[in-house]
Amino acid sequence: MNSVIDITDLTVEQINSLIDTAEDIAANPEKYSSACKGKKLAAMFFEPSTRTRLSFEAAMMELGGNVLSVHSSATSSASKGESINDTAKVVSCYADIMAMRHPLEGAPAVAAVSASIPVINAGDGGHCHPTQTLTDLCTIRSEKGRLNGLTVGFCGDLKYGRTVHSLINALARYENIRVVLISPDELKIPDYVKEGPLAGMEYSETDDLVKALPHLDVLYMTRVQQERFADREQYERLKDVYILTPEKLNMAKSDTIVLHPLPRVNEISVGVDKDERACYFKQVKWGKYMRMALILHLLFGNHDGADILEGAVPVDGVCKNPRCITHTEQELPLYVKKGRCVWCDEEI
Ligand code: NCD
Repeated sequence: MNSVIDITDLTVEQINSLIDTAEDIAANPEKYSSACKGKKLAAMFFEPSTRTRLSFEAAMMELGGNVLSVHSSATSSASKGESINDTAKVVSCYADIMAMRHPLEGAPAVAAVSASIPVINAGDGGHCHPTQTLTDLCTIRSEKGRLNGLTVGFCGDLKYGRTVHSLINALARYENIRVVLISPDELKIPDYVKEGPLAGMEYSETDDLVKALPHLDVLYMTRVQQERFADREQYERLKDVYILTPEKLNMAKSDTIVLHPLPRVNEISVGVDKDERACYFKQVKWGKYMRMALILHLLFGNHDGADILEGAVPVDGVCKNPRCITHTEQELPLYVKKGRCVWCDEEI
């Protein structure tokens, strides 16, 4: 499979080399300006996006390629009931590579199985977001000079925050990483992350941001994911649970960096922006260069990722995760690998 659906579809060596390429692109953009001449990226966004879609589009344009875009389910054949399987086959006839964001967990994986072009997961429900992780890793390496020996605090909505799940999954493969999970009880990290990547890592859980701050090299703030709450009242109760202010940031080390995948709602007060430890706008810039590096890798680098269905067994019924793609996709079997749904990772 030449797609990137999960961050583990890339080896650590490949990730490190993508960061090298992103840095080279940033330093020598003209060297890459016609690398994708004659190639087309299909940006298939079935869920709102500003940064991710625009950064994919800007990335392809700066590589000299062209872009075809779907901006919402409402303006595509998804609104007529077209399956992901059919959409993926159709788009494969028009484009050379596809980036897909979808509210249902596992949709880009289903597309990758049907498409004949590389598929990049640009965020599937509350599940994962591997290109944000590449962006985060690139920013951390550029600011801290390393991806090993770091204490990384994740704060906010660790339950639905897909960027958190993917970044932990990536950091699990680096050396001496300690993770501090900062969230209220209701927004704790899902079991599949705990039993998966976190099981082999040193980690602790707390609900106290101020107490955790002095120990962190990286603070990864997240937005409470309003759109994924079934219970509106619960969202209202939790939405302002953490707000990073300049006063709180005074508790952190002088070289701690603050990241956020953005959009920010009000979990970081604007006053923090002028602190040199606030790196979330630098992170946006790296997002474009990392996506350029990834497009080059998938189109020209002989990427050979794992086959999604290898070793998976089809079982009757649909996944018990209500946000899983098995609930809407016609005739899509629920495949199980190592006791989990292959599309969304839910325990079966
Ligand atoms: C994130 C996402 O879409 O998961 N945003 C992004 O891609 N930069 C984070 C979020 O929406 O909170």
